[in-house]
Order: sequence, then structure tokens, then C-alpha cells
Amino acid sequence: MIGVVVEHLPVLLDEVLKLLQVRKEGVYVDCTLGLGGHSEAILSRLEAPGRLIALDWDQEALEEASDRLGSRHDNLQILHESYQNLPRVLNGLQIPALDGCLMDLGVSSLQLDSPPRGFSFRQEGPLDMRMDSRSETTAADLIGRLSEQELAQLFHRNGEEKAARRIAAAVVARRRLSPIGTTTELARIVEQVKGPGRGRIHPATQVFQALRIEVNSELAGLESALQAVISLLRPGGRLVVIAFHSLEDRIVKNVFRKAAGRCVCFRPLEVCNCPRITEVKILTRKPVTASDQEVRENPRARSAKLRAVEKEV
Ligand SMILES: C[S@@+](CC[C@H](N)C(=O)[O-])C[C@H]1O[C@@H](n2cnc3c(N)ncnc32)[C@H](O)[C@@H]1O
Repeated sequence: MIGVVVEHLPVLLDEVLKLLQVRKEGVYVDCTLGLGGHSEAILSRLEAPGRLIALDWDQEALEEASDRLGSRHDNLQILHESYQNLPRVLNGLQIPALDGCLMDLGVSSLQLDSPPRGFSFRQEGPLDMRMDSRSETTAADLIGRLSEQELAQLFHRNGEEKAARRIAAAVVARRRLSPIGTTTELARIVEQVKGPGRGRIHPATQVFQALRIEVNSELAGLESALQAVISLLRPGGRLVVIAFHSLEDRIVKNVFRKAAGRCVCFRPLEVCNCPRITEVKILTRKPVTASDQEVRENPRARSAKLRAVEKEV
């Protein structure tokens, strides 16, 4: 894929720009550079000394985005880092506070559309799914190593898959015969359990989501990363987050509510113990979603939910 010009439509771009309110001399972070669509638009609004720090932990995405953006901008710094390391990264760059930050979570079209990366059930490829190729565990490792019960829990927890137990049983029965090494093999096993599915949603969607989340620890570090970004915003600075599934969106919603001093008790308790310290103002009462026209032009936008906050002055 590297070097090939990939057509790329950043999700909810107008809404991101409206909510970030880029100040031309401000300091911004794009935590999830991907193919650089959002970064390109942010950069076009910056003037020296304004700068953009863009992170991604996928080397291939960094190379693709650098080809697109790198040489044209001296106020852009692209780094091979996880956004979980943002405080350390900014400390190293001697940046004490941010005017704004974007997190466009999840998987990129570059990753999804590349069969060797193993993210897609539609194309034959190894069951890999690592966004950061430096990490050790692949989806094939999990499918080969976890017990039937652990697999069922994983499919249920990370994929909200109703047929989790039956799929786990089918995986274990099948791997006794030979290892399950490819995306299409796994998709076929799920399809045999659940049937061919109806409409545009493939029956293996949730199982693939569950594995991808686990391989990349996508949920584990999100809460602390969001809290860290909020504490790094200067007064009036803004954080915009786009989530692509309900598990992620729930974490974003709860971190924002808590930071806005609202109650996040799981169910109404007699005595609420939420700290009620107001660090931010919520800018999106409900999550912003894509218009019908955007979804027609870019079907990936269908499940996007955008939320934003502003640091209290
Ligand atoms: C939806 S894509 C971003 C697309 C991008 N906004 C654009 O316009 O091209 C998400 C990107 O986030 C990256 N990513 C996911 N988790 C990450 C993490 N913890 N740290 C850094 N990058 C991460 C993925 O590798 C992927 O490239």
C-alpha cells in the first residue's frame, strides 16, 4: 500500500473543524494520524508559531501520511507513538499545554483495506490485526491459545456478540483439526454458526471487532488517555473524540460527564459519590453523527459518534 495514493475521506471533517476552532498560532495534537485527512485540514489553518503534533502507532500509516503531508509543512511533527504516551511525548517536546486535541479512534481504511494486516473478514489474509507491528500478540495467537470459556467471554465483552458461546465452541472444535490462521477461515466458522446474515452487516463483524479490540488493548488505555488529554488542555482548549462502536463511545461519554462534574453512577444510588469537580464544559449534548449524504459518500461514517469538551477557563 505504501506509495499508492489512497482515496481518503476523513470522517465528520466539518464537524471536527467547527468544534476544534483551530487558532492559527495554537498548539494541537492529532492522536490518531491515520492517513492524515484531519491533520491536513488542521495544518491548513495554522501559521507559525502554530504547530501540530501527530501520533500513530502504525508505522505504515505514518509512512503514508508523511508522504502526503510531511515535506510541505515545517510546523508538523509526526511521531511513532501511542496516544497513551502523550504526557511523556509533550514533556519531551517541552509543550506544557494544548489548544486542542483530536482522537479519531479505531481502525483506519488503510488497515481495513490491506489483506496482509488481517483486519477484514472480506479479504483473505493472516489473522493478525495488530495496529502496531511491534506488539507481540496477534488475533491468531488468541484464537489458538484461549480456552473455550475465555473466547466466549472475549466475544461477548468486546463484541457484544449474542452467539458468543456457540462461536467459541465451534472455534475450539475446528482448531482441534488444524490451526485457524486466516481471516476467511474464521469468518466461515462464524457464518456456519450464525447463518449468512441479513443486510449489509456481515455475521463475523462483532467477532472481528472483539479480537481487534483485544489485540490492540483499545479499551484498556482509553479512559486514562482521555483524562490525561483533558488535564493537558489550556483553559478554553478543546478535545474532540470520534468513536466507532458503543463500547468506546460509552467510555468517552462517561469520562466527559465525570470531568464536567456530572454523576456517572452506574445506577441511581442513595448517596452519589461522584467527585463533581468541574474541569470541562460538554460541547455536544448528544453525540454528533454523520449526515445521510456523508454516509452515502463514505459508508465508514455510518457508525461514527463525535463528542467534544472545552476546558473550563
Ligand atoms: C480512524 S483512523 C484515523 C484516521 C485519520 N483521522 C485520518 O483522517 O486519516 C485511526 C488511527 O488511529 C491509530 N491508533 C489507534 N490506536 C492508537 C493508539 N493507541 N495510539 C496511536 N495511534 C492509534 C490507528 O493506527 C489508525 O491509524
